[in-house]
Amino acid sequence: MHNITLIKGDGIGPEISDAVLKIIKTAGVEINWDVQTAGADVIETEGVPLPDRVIDSVKRNKVALKSPVTTPIGKGFRSVNVQLRKELDLYSNLRPCYNLPNVKTRYDNVDIVVVRENTEDLYAGIERQIDNDTAESIKRITRTASERIAKFAFDYAVKNNRKFVTVVTKANICKLSDGLFLESARNIAQNYNLPLKEILVDNCCMQLVQNPNQFDVLLLPNLYGDIVSDLCAGLIGGLGVAQGANIGKDYAVFEPVHGSAPDIAGQNKANPTAMLMSAIEMLNYIGEDIAAKNIKEALFKTLENNIKTADLGGNASCQDFTDAIVNNIC
Ligand code: NAI
Repeated sequence: MHNITLIKGDGIGPEISDAVLKIIKTAGVEINWDVQTAGADVIETEGVPLPDRVIDSVKRNKVALKSPVTTPIGKGFRSVNVQLRKELDLYSNLRPCYNLPNVKTRYDNVDIVVVRENTEDLYAGIERQIDNDTAESIKRITRTASERIAKFAFDYAVKNNRKFVTVVTKANICKLSDGLFLESARNIAQNYNLPLKEILVDNCCMQLVQNPNQFDVLLLPNLYGDIVSDLCAGLIGGLGVAQGANIGKDYAVFEPVHGSAPDIAGQNKANPTAMLMSAIEMLNYIGEDIAAKNIKEALFKTLENNIKTADLGGNASCQDFTDAIVNNIC
């Protein structure tokens, strides 16, 4: 029996969480889910969007599965997601990105792994209003955080037989901050037998759109990593299929790349694949490799049978799609 924290989130979060829990249960994995709430609803009762009990739960269980939490845009409370990553020092955001069967995309054989620094950069939340017409944000980059994420990217590349790592920056303009990130990647690369390639983020975006097959592992600071992750999701069928994990020294939180999708929330239209793929990685992480393999095969078989949600051009509801996966689990 595993003890795992579940943060159900809001928007489409509850729908896709329920779908994934049902599939994991069918695969026979025994999990005692420690369900925690966070976000806007919690403020009314507990005063803050991320109460200590959520952090304590992840610290106790070491592993969490999380679905998206809405962050108010341009005002309101600080992102629960950013806070969680910071409080638990989940410094690496790992987002493998590859084609799924029978999901029509512009390019075949995309196989990119995005490694995003998760704790600093513009996400440090150091902002101030200078006057009514001027505001500024501090882009904080440190050698410690840059070297440890570079080490994570190279270790991942070696362990997973990847061929090279490409560090993505804007070091021609942000000479000090991105310059430090680049220098850190160069320093760490000297300890490995794998090549480090370098590219500027604007060119990287164009190259990804024109020829994604030229990339292998991408190493990026926080903001570029966030943006490029969504671009890469677009290459493999959209946000509905893009998985992710936040991994630190002591804890790991598995969550999809996408947000709470308020435009389709509560309509039984959400694609649970991204959350399911994140959960499959979680099962591998806790040693449930056989269940992870069975679920992945059932997911692929469902897609091959052309049962797909609307974001992938199909007409299955979230519920139909989930039931089809459940039926395909042997
Ligand atoms: P979003 O990722 O929620 O949605 C973008 C588009 O993709 C929408 O059209 C949505 O319907 C579609 N989409 C996303 N996931 C889907 C799924 N599983 N199935 C089918 N379609 C899907 O991005 P948006 O609208 O920019 O953000 C909404 C909220 O989510 C914001 O408050 C944002 O801060 C938050 N957010 C939370 C994240 C997290 O909790 N880790 C990550 C990203 C955003």
